Amino acid sequence: MDADGLSKSSLRPTVKRSLERALAGRPLDRDEIIELLQSHGPEVEALRAAADEVRRRSVGDAVHLRGVIEFSNYCRRNCLYCGLRAGNGDLERYRIDPDEIVDIAGRAGKLGYRTIVLQSGEDVTYDADTLVWVVRRIKGDLDAAVTIAVGDRPRDEYKAWREAGADRYLLKHETADPELFSRLRPGTALAERVEHLRWLKELGYQVGSGNMIGLPGQTIASIADDLLLLRELDVEMAGIGPFIPNDQTPLADRPGGSLDQTLITLATARLVLPFAHLPATTATGSIDPRGRQKALSFGANVIMPNVTPGRYRQDYRIYPNKICLTEEPENCRPCVEAIITSLGRTVGRDYGHSPKAGFGPGRVEPTA
Ligand code: 5AD
Ligand code: SF4
Ligand code: FES
Repeated sequence: MDADGLSKSSLRPTVKRSLERALAGRPLDRDEIIELLQSHGPEVEALRAAADEVRRRSVGDAVHLRGVIEFSNYCRRNCLYCGLRAGNGDLERYRIDPDEIVDIAGRAGKLGYRTIVLQSGEDVTYDADTLVWVVRRIKGDLDAAVTIAVGDRPRDEYKAWREAGADRYLLKHETADPELFSRLRPGTALAERVEHLRWLKELGYQVGSGNMIGLPGQTIASIADDLLLLRELDVEMAGIGPFIPNDQTPLADRPGGSLDQTLITLATARLVLPFAHLPATTATGSIDPRGRQKALSFGANVIMPNVTPGRYRQDYRIYPNKICLTEEPENCRPCVEAIITSLGRTVGRDYGHSPKAGFGPGRVEPTA
């Protein structure tokens, strides 16, 4: 970034110093993170510019695409915020057959996707062996990385999928506040989720986690703790998006997370986790028509387009007004490419593995 960005007299001196420290590659402490999360006025543009610079240096200009197959909207859990919760009787439920999942992956492969994400609610009717079969088939048929995102499972199931060739696992921690976690996700605990994330790391997955912004009862300090937890876990990816109230859930009347706080958190995440993949999330794109574009200029470097066939999409209704509900995979692919090129960025053509040691062709060294 140019020196002018940081010399604006209207930045609080401590904010200016934090941004300079981050640009020099030094880790931010909790107080600095809290302060950056409260950026306002011209500080927001200075934060954005710093995050954009760190993003460019550490992960480059390529935006990696992950094609997401939402293969089942059944869920055994009852998370208060989520439309897939078991208690939501107003949702038409579907399960896609393993054979059809493999076909959909092939269709995504033809569109150029080099990562396939297998995502569902917590639906244990897809047992360990079924998903082993799906992963093997996709890895055998396509030159693509496979990500699994099916929630909490026993360690030996994570292990079986890893051995079948799965590269990555997504398991969001949702909030680093243990009380809020258990209140919003009845019957579950943050400590267990963190334990699972550690298992996934041990098993050699590239691990994605992340959290929502604007959850009822969430504070700025707790968002700082989200970023510190992501740093402590040394995640390869962090998905950060706004909470969007859903009419079919107990949180229907609560306010949603704001675009501004989401973008500020994303930019701060880029400073805290320079080498992580940070998606411009679908939720961010769903609360603002230019949400994903904005996210890409606030530190994000991944987009996860939906590759689920149109006839299922309407029913994977986690929150209202989700983008692309009436599209087919063939529509979203050129659409995201246009978004990326309009920003002067490029579409990643390889797997988009983590640039951290051990995952990709070679570690990108910090230049700061
Ligand atoms: N608003 C935004 N994101 C949500 N998720 C679930 N419910 C909502 C909501 N109401 C996200 C969570 C979860 C994933 C399935 O979707 O982060 O991990
Ligand atoms: Fe199920 Fe995940 Fe939704 Fe919770 S957030 S109800 S576990 S799909
Ligand atoms: Fe689906 Fe734009 S990404 S239509």
